[in-house]
Amino acid sequence: MSTTERMEPSSETASLASITLAAGLGRRMCSARAKVLHEVAGEAMIVCSLRPLVASGANPLIVVVGHQAEQVEAVVRNAFDSAASLKFALQSVQRGTGNAAQCAIECLPPAFGGDVLITYGDMPRLRSDTVAKFIRSHRQSSAALSFISIDLDDAGEYGRVVRDRTGKVAAIVEATDATASQREIREINTGVYAAPAAFLRSALGAIQPNNAQGEYYLTDLVAIARARGLTVEAFKAAQLSEFAGINSREELAEVNAEMRTAINRRIMASGVTLIDPATVYIGEQVEIGIDTVIGPNVQILGRSRIGSGVRIDGTAWLSDVEIGDRTHLKIGIRAERCRVGDDCELGPFAHLREGTELEGHNRIGNFVETKKTRVGHGTKASHLSYLGDATVGRETNVGCGVITVNYDGYEKHRTEIGDRCMVGCDTQLIAPIRVGNDVYVASGTTIVRDVSDGCLVMSHHPQREKSGWTDNWHKRHQVKPKSDGDGSQS
Ligand code: UD1
Ligand code: CA
Repeated sequence: MSTTERMEPSSETASLASITLAAGLGRRMCSARAKVLHEVAGEAMIVCSLRPLVASGANPLIVVVGHQAEQVEAVVRNAFDSAASLKFALQSVQRGTGNAAQCAIECLPPAFGGDVLITYGDMPRLRSDTVAKFIRSHRQSSAALSFISIDLDDAGEYGRVVRDRTGKVAAIVEATDATASQREIREINTGVYAAPAAFLRSALGAIQPNNAQGEYYLTDLVAIARARGLTVEAFKAAQLSEFAGINSREELAEVNAEMRTAINRRIMASGVTLIDPATVYIGEQVEIGIDTVIGPNVQILGRSRIGSGVRIDGTAWLSDVEIGDRTHLKIGIRAERCRVGDDCELGPFAHLREGTELEGHNRIGNFVETKKTRVGHGTKASHLSYLGDATVGRETNVGCGVITVNYDGYEKHRTEIGDRCMVGCDTQLIAPIRVGNDVYVASGTTIVRDVSDGCLVMSHHPQREKSGWTDNWHKRHQVKPKSDGDGSQS
């Protein structure tokens, strides 16, 4: 921490609340889904937009929801389950950003006398250090209202910052309401504001919908403050990328591409090889150890943690997974909410569903599906199996085509298999069932009762032979027996 930071105890200890506006539909997305639920780097943009505020320690953290309120609230709660300071304000009719902020301010405890940070839910690249710096500057300035502005070559649809003759900020004018000369202004409003709660409580109610869109504009706070003789400060940022507000699918794609490049660069700088960064998609929260090599067409999302020396050959979709050191993912892996230990070998073409836990040194081979299954150290299931709702011990071999029959049409049941077992090919285990340690299951067995330690178990029908049967069949059907060289399959 810098000395200046330490010299400002008041700004570190003063109370801070935040309001994030996320009630709009986002008409320009042309979507049935609320704009803030669209994803950047694999996460809803509302989640990315809120993260820097959670880091700022703001309390309460108010999110204004309206369009698809329940879904937005659920996504936010799921992402920040530990942030007890979260509060949701409902804006049932979307009358503009000023009205949304008004809905939120009513959620603030009446006794709250600190500063309020206001942001939009469509700014997924905002960084927590920027927020902290902005709050400090706002507090040093003692302005009634501060916001972050930026100079752009192409101001696009952003609100224009209008300054008076002395150079002081006079108003923010939306692009749709701007005169031709105002549209020429290059300084724009990013949409990050700070103000004392007292000012907001009195000023938000003064906003009128006198504009082209007939909406209550939050940006009118600037002119309101000036009309009351109060100071408004615009803090200039240098780079738009952090403040880009997403309004359209095209902007969504642009921000996604920028984020992906930035994440991939950071990951490579930390010692990870991306064979083709153009086809690798890594979420912002993902951690990857050094000397891991990632091939083409790979997505690693959510809160995934990948160890060091891991090899991901290519074509993998991994979400909320933990992968141990030196594990090798061969081509074609889908894994979700599961834990894989060190030195495992997965795939090609394996499906690890939620609740899969591999202790380490395991092999989950081609066309094997696992779900809510714990697999002990050294155990292998190399081909064509379904292991669901199961616990498999250590050093056990699960043969080709083994199936845990876990579902009776009404409920799921568990299968337990012990240590050092040989489960023969084409075995079905009718759950609930328990197979002890050191059991040898003959291939083709249907296990319907628990098996004790050390047994051989089999359920074969006796093998029968009918001599001369094939010849008789050919005669009955008047066909010639197959012979070499007649074009039949060998
Ligand atoms: C807004 C600013 C503009 C600024 C730009 C920065 C206003 C009037 N304009 O414009 O000056 O340059 O952001 O990106 O504020 N929302 C609600 N309720 C509503 C309307 C909107 O909660 O009734 C939420 C939306 O869900 C969104 C956010 O507010 O997350 C911003 O709304 P949006 O329509 O994207 O504003 P812009 O037109 O981009
Ligand atoms: Ca916007």
